[in-house]
This record gives sequence, C-alpha cells and structure tokens, in this order.
Amino acid sequence: MIFEQVATGGCQSYLIGCADTCAGALIDPEVSQIDRYLGLATRDGLRIRFVIDTHTHADHFSASRRLAERLDAMTVMHRASPAPGIAMRVDDGESIVLGKLRLQVMHTPGHTADSMCLVGEDRVFTGDTLLIGGTGRTDLPTGDPDALYDSLFGRLLKLDPALLVYPAHDYKGRSHSTIGAETATNPRLQQRDRAAFVQMMKSLDLSMPTHLTEALRTNMSGGKTVGEMLAEATACVPFMSMAELRTRVESAGNELVVLDVREKDAYESGHIPGARLLPRGQLELRVDKELPDPTARIVTCCEFGRISTLAAATLRTMGFQRAVALDGGMKAWLEAGYPTRAGALP
Ligand SMILES: [Fe+2]
Repeated sequence: MIFEQVATGGCQSYLIGCADTCAGALIDPEVSQIDRYLGLATRDGLRIRFVIDTHTHADHFSASRRLAERLDAMTVMHRASPAPGIAMRVDDGESIVLGKLRLQVMHTPGHTADSMCLVGEDRVFTGDTLLIGGTGRTDLPTGDPDALYDSLFGRLLKLDPALLVYPAHDYKGRSHSTIGAETATNPRLQQRDRAAFVQMMKSLDLSMPTHLTEALRTNMSGGKTVGEMLAEATACVPFMSMAELRTRVESAGNELVVLDVREKDAYESGHIPGARLLPRGQLELRVDKELPDPTARIVTCCEFGRISTLAAATLRTMGFQRAVALDGGMKAWLEAGYPTRAGALP
C-alpha cells in the first residue's frame, strides 16, 4: 500500500494507493493543497482514480471537484450527500476498488447524515465520526447525536481493536490512533449510556467554525471560494508596487489612469493624487463612458488591494489589456505616508 498523510492546519487528508497497480485515491482533499497532492501522486507513481469526501465538510474547502476535473477521476460521496454532480455515490457495505486494495464503506451518520468511514487493510479513515480523543460535533446541519451513538457504539467500535484510526481532523499534530486505544481512553467514548452520550453531545456548546457558510456553500454547490476567486484574478493581472506608482504619479507627463474603485465616501476622504473614481459595483456598466480608450494604461486601487485585483481582472476580460492592479491598497498607501488628496471628484 502507498500512503501519504497531508495536514492543513487541523484538517487531515490522505493519498492512498495500490503499489501493484498504481491506482490511487484521495480522501478529504483540501483546496489549498492541490499542488501538494499532485506532486505526491507523481512522486509515488500513482494515478488518482477516486476523490472521496467522507462527508459534507462545514469547516474546510473540499478540493474534490477541482481535482476530479483535472485528473479525470471520479468524485465519491455517500448516497445521502446533498452535493450535486457526485460521479459515484456509495452506500454502506460497498467497496471502492483501487487495484488490489479495497476501501470498504461504512455509513456512520451522526456528525452529518452523509458521514461514512472507509476501511482499508489495517486502517480505517473515520472522517469526523471518530477523532483522536474526541468525536465529530453533532450541532451542525444534519448532525444527530443519537445517530452518532449508534454509529460509534453499534458499528465503528466493534471493528478490530488493532485497526489504525486516521481521522479527518486533529488539532494536536497526532497522525493516528487505534480503535482499541480510542475505546479505552477517548473521553467521549467513556459515556456508554445512550441518554448520557446524547446529553453530553447536546451540551458541548462549541463555537461555530470559521467560514461555515462559505464552506457549506462551496462544498454543497461546487462553487468557488472567495480565496479561489482572488487567486484566479491574481494569476491573470500584473501588479504595480506602491513605490512605483508614487514615482509615476509625481512625475510630469504621467499617462497612467489611476482608477479608484472604492465607494464615493471613501474616495472623498482621501485618494491618490489624480485618481479617478469608478466604484467596483458600477465598473462594467460605466466603464465605456468613463474610459473610452481601451488602450489606456490603468492602475486600479481600493482599500486593501483585493477588490482592485478583481476590478483589474474584469477590465482585462473586457479588453483593457493594459489594466494592472496596485500591489497594496489605500490603507497601506496611507501607512507608508504617501501623498493623498481629499475632496470631491477632480
Ligand atoms: Fe466535518
């Protein structure tokens, strides 16, 4: 068996493959690690055939769709998953075949209704059903503490105690555990009475994960994260440094159009000398009137340098092939002590 574990903060993902046939699968891949997965698969000589999510994640951005498209691989989730466009939906008792390796599906609802664990050879990938010294929470959408009790005590903990446990999260840098060790020492599993277990899960009072709505939106729809939108825009526009722009703004015969894409109030409270105002929200509809020359050299600026990047990418899409974005924003411009003008439009 070929096996790699990739940690992203507290998120754990896995590359697993058959050494004889080089067929591989990714389990719970995260969007910021795409290059790493591809690099590891190449190094290990694996052809990734399946990209599997153990459940609908509310706390990390799944890379499954992106990777499946790129690798011509199958996305795999449990039958109960609400995500559209899953190429292969699986159910309890079925196996995913990787050459001579089998990943057996065990439906373990509780953390979410679509949670599943995958048993392969000497190990089990437990998703967020069972963590090292913990369990998945049951207070997020489709969570159910009663179902988690059944999944843990009725199914997972009845597996061979020697099986290695590889969870979807660990925040303390541990790589794995075993079913036996968790049964013996996991604090949540010491609550073996159903009512007491359910009561404990209901009274955890955990804070909501960061990016909860964005994770659910993108993981359930296949849409893009804000980070991906920005990364795509950044990859297709050049940038101009603040120092370079300052020099050019202060030099005679400057032909640069500095386009401030913030709202009017922000512009009037302080802008780069000579900057023109065209708020991002009006850009597409007003740009032909405001900038009739598509060959003009344009530098977009905003408060933090993010909206201006999106604006420059939009301008390039529209045919303004010399549009660039300021590498920074007005906040950094002011902090650098660079000159500004206040007041209404010039
Ligand atoms: Fe989760």
